[in-house]
Amino acid sequence: MTRINMKFAIMLIIMLSNNVELFETQLFSQALVNLWFPKEPNIVRVRTLDEVAIGKSVRILDFIGLVTRHGYPAEEHIITTKDGYNLKLHRIPDSPLSINKDNKKPIFLQHGVLGSSDLWVLFGPGKDLAFLLADQGYDVWLGNVRGNTYCRSHVKMSPQNADFWQYSYHEIGTIDLPNMIDYVLDYTGKKFLHYIGHSMGTTLLFVLLSTRPDYNAKIRLGICFAPVALFNELSPLFQQAINNYQNIMKFFNDNEVNELFPLSSTNIASNKILCADNTKTQPFCIAVLFLFAGSDPIQMNTTALPGIFGHYPAGISVLTLYHYIQNILTHDFRHYDYGYFIHNDIVSERYELEKITAPLALIYGAGDVIASRSVKTFNVLELHKRLSNVILFEEVPYKRFNHLDFFTGIDAKSLLFDHVIEIIEKFEAKQLNRSLF
Ligand SMILES: *[C@@H]1O[C@H](CO)[C@@H](O)[C@H](O)[C@H]1NC(C)=O
Ligand SMILES: *[C@@H]1O[C@H](CO)[C@@H](O)[C@H](O)[C@H]1NC(C)=O
Repeated sequence: MTRINMKFAIMLIIMLSNNVELFETQLFSQALVNLWFPKEPNIVRVRTLDEVAIGKSVRILDFIGLVTRHGYPAEEHIITTKDGYNLKLHRIPDSPLSINKDNKKPIFLQHGVLGSSDLWVLFGPGKDLAFLLADQGYDVWLGNVRGNTYCRSHVKMSPQNADFWQYSYHEIGTIDLPNMIDYVLDYTGKKFLHYIGHSMGTTLLFVLLSTRPDYNAKIRLGICFAPVALFNELSPLFQQAINNYQNIMKFFNDNEVNELFPLSSTNIASNKILCADNTKTQPFCIAVLFLFAGSDPIQMNTTALPGIFGHYPAGISVLTLYHYIQNILTHDFRHYDYGYFIHNDIVSERYELEKITAPLALIYGAGDVIASRSVKTFNVLELHKRLSNVILFEEVPYKRFNHLDFFTGIDAKSLLFDHVIEIIEKFEAKQLNRSLF
């Protein structure tokens, strides 16, 4: 990646952000809709690199393959929610480097919008948080939520059916998350677990703990990366996209798009080519990422982009996006209101953040345009004020750290993950001390 390419990427961001009317133009022909929002993923998931190489179809490693290729054990557990969605829960139960073999403490990692459990294990041991936690002796569980690439399955409905996609983060937080947490606690015989969520992974925790306060006792410590619940003010780029929300909704309606950016063979194949190093098109890839995550050229490993795009974005319902749009337009954190876009009047219930009593650590990036704390956007600060049991409120010590750096930042280990492990160990030591004295 040359410096000129990166400059070009940043120029493109400015151009793109001034052209959100793009959605109205003929550019979005049916062919592009089919390419970006295909109804069938057509991906073959395999477990060894040998299998990836053979055949013509797009083959990617699944979570088990991504983990076991490094000599770590991995498991897949399938649970069915009370409303019929089949979810795949992943686990790294041990590490070749861990001395602690018994009485491991469960820790639960929850991805955000468009993510999957794969995002926590893309780079390997010594780099990804999931491997580092396993090395430290934790029993690592990784959630996947309805509609993502691992959870496009239901006891009755097919993802081809529009009803399959009738959910927002409300259903994920009130049904999927407690189902997954209870499964882990039952399976391990423990009373509580540590929780680490990124972005929507934090929204889900806030939704669960405020609507079902009995779950506060099941969260030993909740660590929130780039926490998202309140949008007081937006960065100018985001504001512009939001001002266009009616066009965006109309576009999705007209094209019967119910699922946002699914992981599919066409996306994987085209992104691999478009985003590769030394191509003229790579700046476009980077521009799109920076537009939504914040611009941080130093922490972005451009060589890793084609690999990342083999697993991300991994799909979510369009309704989840609409729920966030309601939050933004109303400056409030409420249940999804099915009448809001018709009447412009929000009457749904408020999530009562004051019911959240589990200890929380909030960690944000200064360069993040979503969960930000710039001069104009106080979203994270405001959230901190409304939560009663925040034991730690910190900025990642790198001033451009953006929304995606929590997974893909070149120095994420030294800037964040090592510190996170220290936070958990210190917290545990304190709890142990409390029970001794
Ligand atoms: C960048 O990514 C490539 C491909 O995944 C990897 O080989 C390389 O070590 C990475 N570089 C850094 C600085 O992390
Ligand atoms: C544990 O408690 C003792 C007595 O209150 C105190 O001196 C010590 O610093 C505590 N250790 C930790 C790790 O909190």
